[in-house]
Amino acid sequence: MISMEKVVRVSDIKNHVGENVQIRGWMHLKREHGKHMLFLVVRDGTGFVQVVLRDNIQGYNEVFNSYREASVIITGEVSEDKRSPYGYEIRANGVKVVSPSQPTIEEEIQPDSSVELLLDKRHLVVRGEKASAVLRYTDKLLRYLREFCVERDLTEVIPPVLTKAACEGGATLFPVKYFDDTAYLTQSSQLYLEAVLPALGDVYCIQKSFRAEHHRTRRHLLEYYHFEPELAFIDFGDLIRFAEDTIIHIVKRTLEEDYKTLELFGVTDLKVPRQPFRRMTYAEALDFFKSRGVSIEPGMDIEESKERLLVDHFGEPVFLTEFPSVQKAFYFKRKESDESLAQAVDLLVPTVGEIIGGGMREDDYDKIISRLREINANLDDYRWYTDFRKYGSVPHGGYGLGIERTIEWILRLEHIRDATLFPRFINRLLP
Ligand code: 4AD
Repeated sequence: MISMEKVVRVSDIKNHVGENVQIRGWMHLKREHGKHMLFLVVRDGTGFVQVVLRDNIQGYNEVFNSYREASVIITGEVSEDKRSPYGYEIRANGVKVVSPSQPTIEEEIQPDSSVELLLDKRHLVVRGEKASAVLRYTDKLLRYLREFCVERDLTEVIPPVLTKAACEGGATLFPVKYFDDTAYLTQSSQLYLEAVLPALGDVYCIQKSFRAEHHRTRRHLLEYYHFEPELAFIDFGDLIRFAEDTIIHIVKRTLEEDYKTLELFGVTDLKVPRQPFRRMTYAEALDFFKSRGVSIEPGMDIEESKERLLVDHFGEPVFLTEFPSVQKAFYFKRKESDESLAQAVDLLVPTVGEIIGGGMREDDYDKIISRLREINANLDDYRWYTDFRKYGSVPHGGYGLGIERTIEWILRLEHIRDATLFPRFINRLLP
């Protein structure tokens, strides 16, 4: 009986009203309506649909005695149902339980479960409507970023994750035993992207980056997904415009395609930001804080809560530029008129703070060598990187955008742990 039906995805059910179809999925919710009728919500990964079963159909008792999360195959006729939160309903004429679930499913997690328990049970939490919507949106966001890069003729490359050359300084390096040597999990693919520019022109990668962060915050993961474009023959202004265009593209595409996800998260105020975005130098930001009684020692980092204070004040994305060089990594090009400032840029967005960090790269061979010496780097470990400055250097720059932080911003999530499949924090390596 079951194999004769047309198998459809729940997301496609709207195109099958009046037809007899088969769906395969999991029993998300079960509600009894007396002894003779059941209401289910079935989930197949592409969506949720309401299913009505009467006790005269084959397999009814099997489902009646089953628990939430049992895997099921349902056949039945699709109808539109404006009252149902999912818009459509299937009146089942056959049902099969593929594999049952256990009564303990009801005890696994509760609405008031602690954060740690929810993290322990993340493999079950991700089955939920909101958690799975975040994962599905992640897939969409990656598509929008790739689409943007294709439009701009950037080539995607796949740099190594195991590396010997630190990119963002020693403090957050993850060492890995590499036979008789020590390797590090990459903090950023930037150096490899720079090295490949003369081969491919503008490039990008979407790859994991790793930071051994000792503190737990709302926006730090130990392992995160990093979108990094790198562009040749550009100046600082081009780089900032490129970053602006990226944000505009992903927000536009989200508004076009993901309005239901935005609705699910109660996001009503996402707008395509006006171009040019607000810009502020580091010195101007310090003045902003001073006028509000918040002091930051000149040259010091603007910490997370202060970033948010600034950007929430404006309620729109803000580029911070002209950071003190001493604060920034060895590879930053300095401002020609003032070497104490780096050609660095961070993009801050409301509710999260920094989602993009980037800048122009030092393209002069002698200068990059002396910078590496300043940080006591082993020059041999960086030959492959510095050679670009020796054989046909060009002005170039790029940035890194944190995927999870961007999702946190767009879906207004309270914490980065909800923006990733299985988060990694200090003391958390499971699941
Ligand atoms: O500002 P960051 O450290 O810049 C770099 O790594 C550059 N090498 C990138 C480049 O120019 N190609 O990191 C870039 C972005 C941040 O703005 C943030 O969005 C994200 O990466 N990020 C993190 N996201 C989650 N957890 C962490 N621990 C993160 N650290 C950085």
